[in-house]
Amino acid sequence: MTPNSRIEAALDVALIRSRAGSCPPKLATALEYAVKPGGARIRPTICLNVAMACGDDAPGLTDAACTAIELIHCGSLVHDDLPAFDNADIRRGKPTIHKAFSEPLAVLTGDTLIIMAFEEIGVAAMQDAARGGQLIRELARFSGMPHGICAGQAWESEPVVDLSAYHRAKTGALFTAATRMGAAAAGEDPEAWTELGARIGEAFQVADDLRDALYDEETLGKPAGQDAIHARPNAVTELGVQGAIRRLDDILSGAISSIPSCPGEAALCEMVRKTAERLTPVLPNIASARTA
Ligand code: IPE
Ligand code: IPE
Ligand code: MG
Ligand code: MG
Repeated sequence: MTPNSRIEAALDVALIRSRAGSCPPKLATALEYAVKPGGARIRPTICLNVAMACGDDAPGLTDAACTAIELIHCGSLVHDDLPAFDNADIRRGKPTIHKAFSEPLAVLTGDTLIIMAFEEIGVAAMQDAARGGQLIRELARFSGMPHGICAGQAWESEPVVDLSAYHRAKTGALFTAATRMGAAAAGEDPEAWTELGARIGEAFQVADDLRDALYDEETLGKPAGQDAIHARPNAVTELGVQGAIRRLDDILSGAISSIPSCPGEAALCEMVRKTAERLTPVLPNIASARTA
């Protein structure tokens, strides 16, 4: 089984559990729509690779950690696209949940995905209560307050924004959760894995700023040019396109050097290199650079 098919199979198990027995059909369909087909699945891929590098001796816990992280991510996107937040009509190249279903169903879809994430870990925790408890704590810490996605999104409601705290919480937190939970699922101390996750998260934010500035809606599968439209501070405005690409390279080489020594260290370095290639925008393919 490839890492990708393992992640998709674990997500399918969670979706099947969510619609067992008699349940409201529209919410069941909306849950599937929000999760499948996915985007890049970058967070669960990182989580799985870290767990494998650490020995992956409890595959059920690894699968639950990967699934939970991706479900939280998908839920956060559903809420983020709502009219009360970014009011986006398109996500992953198709109408957003509130457009395809309704606003009440989008609120419920986001809520349910978050709850499903914790349920996945709860079920897996029956194999190993100590590791399961640790995974729940990590997931709550990096999705809630004061350092998680909820905190990150909440900075948008403040008159004065601490930019790095905003980015770290909104985007970086779930990457840190991915490396830490991968290690915790395999029984390793998550602490040593914080820097790798934080660096990949920071790189992802710079890459996202570049893609937002340089790509069009069709290529992105979601609205483009949002940072400029909402006058959000971002890496491209701050450093220029070439400067932001250099910054991305620097962060990612730091990420590779931060990998703790472990049995699967070489394979993990390769995964981070591949992630770096995927994140770096392909400049010749960019039709129109709004920021030139
Ligand atoms: C988009 O994340 C949301 C941000 C944190 C900027 P991704 O680019 O990972 O979204 P998908 O899952 O691939 O669609
Ligand atoms: C969404 O952030 C990430 C969340 C934490 C929900 P953005 O609003 O910046 O990302 P996109 O452009 O909608 O994917
Ligand atoms: Mg947003
Ligand atoms: Mg958005």
